Amino acid sequence: MNHSERLKVLLITGSTVFKSETCLMLQRIRPCEIEHKDSVHKSLRYFIQYKPDLVIADWQLESHTASDLLQAMRTNDDWKRIPVLITLDESDRDLTEQALTLGAAQVLLKPLNQNALSRILAGFFPVSRRQVKGNTPFDYREIKAKLEQIHLLAPLPSLAAKIMDLLKDPNSSARDLAGEIKKDQSITARILKIANSAYYGFHREIGNVDRAIVVLGFDEIMNIAQVVCLMEAFDTEDDSALNRKEFWGHSLGTAHIARALSKRLNDLSPRDAFVMGLLHDFGKVVLNQHFREEFHYMIKTAEDQQRPLHEVCRELTGTDHAEIGGMVAESWKLPLPLVRAIRYHHRPESVDKDGREIDVAHLANFFCHRYKIGESGNSVADEPNYLSLLRLGIKEDQLDEFWQSLKMDPMHLRDILE
Ligand SMILES: [Fe+2]
Ligand SMILES: [Fe+2]
Repeated sequence: MNHSERLKVLLITGSTVFKSETCLMLQRIRPCEIEHKDSVHKSLRYFIQYKPDLVIADWQLESHTASDLLQAMRTNDDWKRIPVLITLDESDRDLTEQALTLGAAQVLLKPLNQNALSRILAGFFPVSRRQVKGNTPFDYREIKAKLEQIHLLAPLPSLAAKIMDLLKDPNSSARDLAGEIKKDQSITARILKIANSAYYGFHREIGNVDRAIVVLGFDEIMNIAQVVCLMEAFDTEDDSALNRKEFWGHSLGTAHIARALSKRLNDLSPRDAFVMGLLHDFGKVVLNQHFREEFHYMIKTAEDQQRPLHEVCRELTGTDHAEIGGMVAESWKLPLPLVRAIRYHHRPESVDKDGREIDVAHLANFFCHRYKIGESGNSVADEPNYLSLLRLGIKEDQLDEFWQSLKMDPMHLRDILE
């Protein structure tokens, strides 16, 4: 959606009162083009000719519930990224959970609250600062208000959520994983592309997911699937402050190194270490997508002043990508050690004990920068943190030796996204 255009909203409700109240409220928030339908069937017919930016739908609709709508939308490539807000007449935990599981962006209680709706719209469709403000580059209140809706800014992609559930379930099998992956053709294709990359070095082509699991193993395919889901859902655009390939190269490199470190140091499970490494800089994806103008400014300032990006970001906004990433991880209900590692990977000294997972994230990130595996918008990397090295039992002058002992080849790691 172009910022100067009117927001196209499809409102699905059988209630004329709710329809007129909501139309008025939306128009008060920002210019909108609102289309109204009163059934799932009519709405789906409407989708074929016209694509709204946002859908607001009653859960209970005539003979159907909005579950039919959500299911139809999530299985269609053109519709699945349209946010859907579900409205309920009264609070109902089971229905709320059901709607969220089916992909609703949020469940709201009637009557709607204008401030809450306004914040939700701002999260999905930020208004360009040029349209609303003078020349101050940062508006703390706006940043803070948007970050309070972190679950809207960075919803967990549904396949990634299923994979995370499989990770937690000791009884999950390769068949469960393959079943989930095969439901999405484009994800399947991208997983196979990585499985066939120079990084894994198989001479015979791996043609399907079942074969990929046999050849590379359950854990490896689970990890690749997570990478692909996250890349797919949070793709960067042309005017991005981040180079997409370099950024995911850095994230993936950190994930592989963190996994190797966890095996060596026995601190957290290799699976968790991989997820942590992959997500450690995810806050930058949020900044890049939702605070693009500010993020460009921060990267430029950090470069000009030759300072670490997170330091500049904190100075200008009161927060940084690590903290934002921690908020995202928390909203995705990742295990606490992972949340802490993501949140403090640039400040391991903030946690005085039991912080070894943070040290693993910090050190993996350090090695990734040192050996130039990908790039994450940070031209000045951190020095290895003294306390982290102490806790991990590694002396600073032994870092090279320690790296050698991990037997990781930076050139080889760079191959993975080729
Ligand atoms: Fe970072
Ligand atoms: Fe990083």
